[in-house]
Amino acid sequence: MSTIRPHAVAYCGGAYGDEGKGRIVDEVVASFVRTHKVIVYRDNGGANAGHTVEFKNGNRIALHQLPSGVFHEGVHVVLGKGMVIHPQDLLSEIEQVEQATGGIIPATILIDEQAVLSLDTHRAMEGMLKNWEEGGKGSTGRGIAPAYVDVLYRHPLRVKDLVPFNREKIEKHYRLYEAFVKGLGGELASTIVPLLTKNTQQEVGGLSIFVDRLEEQAQKLAPFVKGLNHFLDSHWQDLTTAWVFEKAQAIGLDNRWGVYPDVTASDCTFDGIYSATEGVIDPMAIGMRAAVLKGTYMSSVGTRQLPTVMESELADKIREDAHEYGATTRRPRGIAHLDIPALRFFSRVGRCTHLVLTHMDIVYPSMPISVCVNYTLNGKTAPYRPDQQYLSSIQPEYVKMETWDSEEIASVTKASKLPQTTKAFISFLETQIGLPVDLITTGPKRDQSLSLRKSKAMR
Ligand code: IMP
Repeated sequence: MSTIRPHAVAYCGGAYGDEGKGRIVDEVVASFVRTHKVIVYRDNGGANAGHTVEFKNGNRIALHQLPSGVFHEGVHVVLGKGMVIHPQDLLSEIEQVEQATGGIIPATILIDEQAVLSLDTHRAMEGMLKNWEEGGKGSTGRGIAPAYVDVLYRHPLRVKDLVPFNREKIEKHYRLYEAFVKGLGGELASTIVPLLTKNTQQEVGGLSIFVDRLEEQAQKLAPFVKGLNHFLDSHWQDLTTAWVFEKAQAIGLDNRWGVYPDVTASDCTFDGIYSATEGVIDPMAIGMRAAVLKGTYMSSVGTRQLPTVMESELADKIREDAHEYGATTRRPRGIAHLDIPALRFFSRVGRCTHLVLTHMDIVYPSMPISVCVNYTLNGKTAPYRPDQQYLSSIQPEYVKMETWDSEEIASVTKASKLPQTTKAFISFLETQIGLPVDLITTGPKRDQSLSLRKSKAMR
């Protein structure tokens, strides 16, 4: 049993993604940085994640691969071994951060040389698969799954193949993907793939164009690339360093625990930290491992049909009020009632210790919040199982919870001053899911969050 490490907290999506983790991480980093050296560590996913940061002057930047925390001076942000990295998109993200911060990035960016590359070749392949079979249909198109597949097939390109630049290996990779795409009836060089920079796209290009472009990017990324084993080990031993772990995606998107095939390829649970750090950091030693949830509803993108999907009028209202459109893909998100059997399952398999509830201001007067507390199948209580056919056969049972004034809670500055109905709702979720709520957010602004841990009146 690992000893609990002080000043170490971790956040994952506790439902189907887009729960607002980035903002939570950013706020926690801001508070740690006043007193500690801080490391923000991301262990999974790649350019499929999305989190928009808004500046006081109204400028907005979408972070996809960079961990939140990159805007804080003195912080180290780590892109870990379990990530798949698209160099060109990462460089444009770095450039945008530089522009927003007057040329100098406040945090130190470290990219683990063992992280896997996700390139235009993978995006082209994913595009071909979209027309070919079901498995590619629901992806973000960012080449995530093919990059992870390379690892399982034992031919991945890693960041260390860029620095120093291994032309021979990269050419071999290109030829393999040329053959894959040709086998599916396409031509790699002329395939158009999406880029995250202002939603542009580009041709993959012929062999020399592709390799030369990558070499140029490799030179620019080189200063950030490191072997990180010693760095991680020594800082994990140093008990004065604060750690914030930022997972990408969500447990309901994990290919073992989510609703197949709308699932991603990386480990979305806290276990991914163990493998990404090569066993240096035991996730069970992280004191708080919080599942971030939207407090009053759930959202979902893709083809999955959630048992608790909402009727359209309320769903449309929530979508507009909470801006429920994909940060990466701009797709409108499906909206569903909270589904306790699924959320309880996700927090158990995800090994979560706490909950964070975002969007607590998304409530409507005289419209109770419907929460599914149980599934039945043939008249008997049934559990959540990660299987669409099964989930389409169960009947959700709801309870209705009294709501509160969204404007009133948006201006509350102390948890003890929350309306009674909000407190009752939070206690209800704690009992139903079986985990304490650490933090809630009551509006989109930075200061609209309340720590419940510190509030005795809540307990
Ligand atoms: P991939 O991660 O691009 O392979 O996409 C696989 C599935 O995960 C698709 O259904 C995506 O819509 C979903 N997905 C991936 N990342 C996110 C996210 O950050 N939020 C919500 N859904 C996501």
